[in-house]
Amino acid sequence: MKKQLIYISLICLTTIPLWSQKTTNEKQMDIFISGLMKKMTLDEKLSQLNLLTPNSNTGPFATKKYAEKLKDGSGGNVYSLVGSPSEVKAKLELAESTRLKIPLLSGLDIIHGYKTIFPIPLGLSCSWNMPLIEQTARVAAIEASAVGYNWTFSPMVDISRDPRWGRVMEGSGEDPFLGGKIAQAMVKGYQGDDLKNETSLMACIKHFGMYGAAEAGRDYNTTDMSKLTMYQFYLPPYKAAVEAGAGSIMTSFNEVEGIPATANKWLITDVLKKQWGFKGFAVTDFASIQELTTHGISKDDKQSAELAMNAGTDMDMGSELFFGYLKQSIQEGKVSMAAIDAACRRVLEAKYKLGLFTNPYRNFDPEKADRVTLTKENKEIAKKAALRSMVLLENKNNILPLKKDSNIALIGPFANNKAEMFSMWVLKGDVDSVVTIYEGIKKVNPNVETVMGTQITDNEYLQSFAGYPYEAEEQEKLIKEAVELAKKSDVVVTVLGEAKGMSGEAKNLTNISIPNCQLELLKALKNTGKPIVLLLANGRPMTIENALPYTDAIVETWHLGTEAGSAVAEVLFGDYNPSGKLTMTFPRSVGQIPIYYNHKNTGRPYDGGRKRNFKSNYMDSPNTPLYPFGYGLSYTTFTYDKVILSDTILTGSNKILKAKVNITNTGKYPGEETVQLYLNDPVASVTRPVKELKNFKKIFLQPGETKEVSFDITTEDLKFYNSNLILDWESGSFTVFIGTNSDVTNNAAFVWNK
Ligand code: GLC
Repeated sequence: MKKQLIYISLICLTTIPLWSQKTTNEKQMDIFISGLMKKMTLDEKLSQLNLLTPNSNTGPFATKKYAEKLKDGSGGNVYSLVGSPSEVKAKLELAESTRLKIPLLSGLDIIHGYKTIFPIPLGLSCSWNMPLIEQTARVAAIEASAVGYNWTFSPMVDISRDPRWGRVMEGSGEDPFLGGKIAQAMVKGYQGDDLKNETSLMACIKHFGMYGAAEAGRDYNTTDMSKLTMYQFYLPPYKAAVEAGAGSIMTSFNEVEGIPATANKWLITDVLKKQWGFKGFAVTDFASIQELTTHGISKDDKQSAELAMNAGTDMDMGSELFFGYLKQSIQEGKVSMAAIDAACRRVLEAKYKLGLFTNPYRNFDPEKADRVTLTKENKEIAKKAALRSMVLLENKNNILPLKKDSNIALIGPFANNKAEMFSMWVLKGDVDSVVTIYEGIKKVNPNVETVMGTQITDNEYLQSFAGYPYEAEEQEKLIKEAVELAKKSDVVVTVLGEAKGMSGEAKNLTNISIPNCQLELLKALKNTGKPIVLLLANGRPMTIENALPYTDAIVETWHLGTEAGSAVAEVLFGDYNPSGKLTMTFPRSVGQIPIYYNHKNTGRPYDGGRKRNFKSNYMDSPNTPLYPFGYGLSYTTFTYDKVILSDTILTGSNKILKAKVNITNTGKYPGEETVQLYLNDPVASVTRPVKELKNFKKIFLQPGETKEVSFDITTEDLKFYNSNLILDWESGSFTVFIGTNSDVTNNAAFVWNK
């Protein structure tokens, strides 16, 4: 009796303070959920950990008899219901047949828009425009929540330094600082101010973790790196999204230090839940529990379910192994009831925060959907996003912008193709509403004609794998037709690169150059002597050095979405001065990969010499990329004065160092510039990158106008993860760079002591 009294008082002593820290809402939620869980059977709890899908449009299989399972209560959540609104509603209502009528999470991959489609995330990240990025997520949430979705498997925040990997198109490039800001903007856009708001979508941070470091750029492949690299370069965007309040996170397919993320207790429990205090739930990726046997850390499905649950994974996407085996595992003592309860509570809390218990269908209203979908405002935002995603890579002799009365030969397989302005991740986009590049140009300048010019790829393996036709005779005909059209024009605009099906999940390439057949077209067009503008339509950085001799200007347009043509026309004719800045390095060749700006100095940094000098260099190529992180030209030019510091020696962590620079528009077009601030910490207890992005500001300057841009630097900016994985800063000297891209040399030095 005495022991029990001590035990109960210990419980009270520990829970009362915790309880008192909770807000009233949290207390109400706890009471509601505890009450609900008291009524639930073990099966009903396990059903909450079960996520079903009616189709295999994003993975290897569909759930058998998913509707029956929603109805009999063995499936507590569903995703990828892609029928009509009324069909989606009918499936969600199946939960009303269950004993406790617990409403369903209804998820979908809404990656860059629902009906109104925005540029692919890698493109949108080049806008460096957080309010705009947040706005695109908000529009997607409004459109999708009106037809029954309450959860999106986005944002994808995987850092990647390897453009061979098909999924770089879904992310925000190579930088942890920028990636973190974008992740937060997306979470805020999807979730809004309150998840209970009917237009919110619960975000799902993915893919946790380090998925973008797949060896050789081959999807699902092994990732292997030090914890120091994880903490310094790969984990920050996930952490930023957790701090932004994302309601869920998705475990990734890859292994991390020999243990697949889905069963990696260090990653999910120690880092995510304990170190970061994540209060949402962790869902697996598609069938990744089942794949633990294939990875080779589990002997059978039952052990896989136990490994995943004991690692801290809360919900099983697609494999149904939690529901199938954990009841037995509990009876055998291999999984604790406490673990099941903890997972179930996290899922029920998410449903509670979404308001589903009082309003399971929220603002689901097909009529309303028509009023809030593909509206003029939404399309305006799509055009604004498309404008700011484009990056001007080359503009020899300022051939751009074009005159509006130019006679244009528009040539290429992506010039007048609505579907190709989307990506593999557009599940419900309205393709008919897409403005093609041809349509956009024609609206401004009727003197434009368009022909295909070339097939997409002559790579036989790719043709067979991805189903792109190629015939030599046809190719000859297409090029001949294109050359004839070019000869009649003032200027040639070619739209080349990758079909939307050449990037995305499991869409990896060993060769990321302009395909040979497309290069053939460029060479033939060059022989006409006409100026040539290349518009790249692609989902990854490409090695396009082979196209430089045949082009006068190059605009990176990615896959721009619904308003592609309207935006391209505005850039081509100068109604919008391109302002995008690359968020992922463009290599000269695949041989340079992985290549990224925030690299280490090494003990033998290459100094540009051209002789065998025992330095870290190649003998057949410069070390430098074709275009560095942060790069993007403008129709105007910006001149940076030198960096001025408020101090050069500081002591103590409560100080603020101001770094200022005057920037002048020295060209003849008004334009937006993204001013980037990088720091270098040349001597520390671990090696530090030659540069790290720490801040950026966007300014708009009229021709001749000068503005001062000032940044506050604090010791927070100096912090890094040391060998003990502690985030801290160290006394010493530092260099601050402020410029237009990561190649910046404009700098000033300072010393900061503790
Ligand atoms: C896929 C993807 C993931 C997506 C999920 C559901 O395999 O890896 O990003 O959210 O399955 O479609």
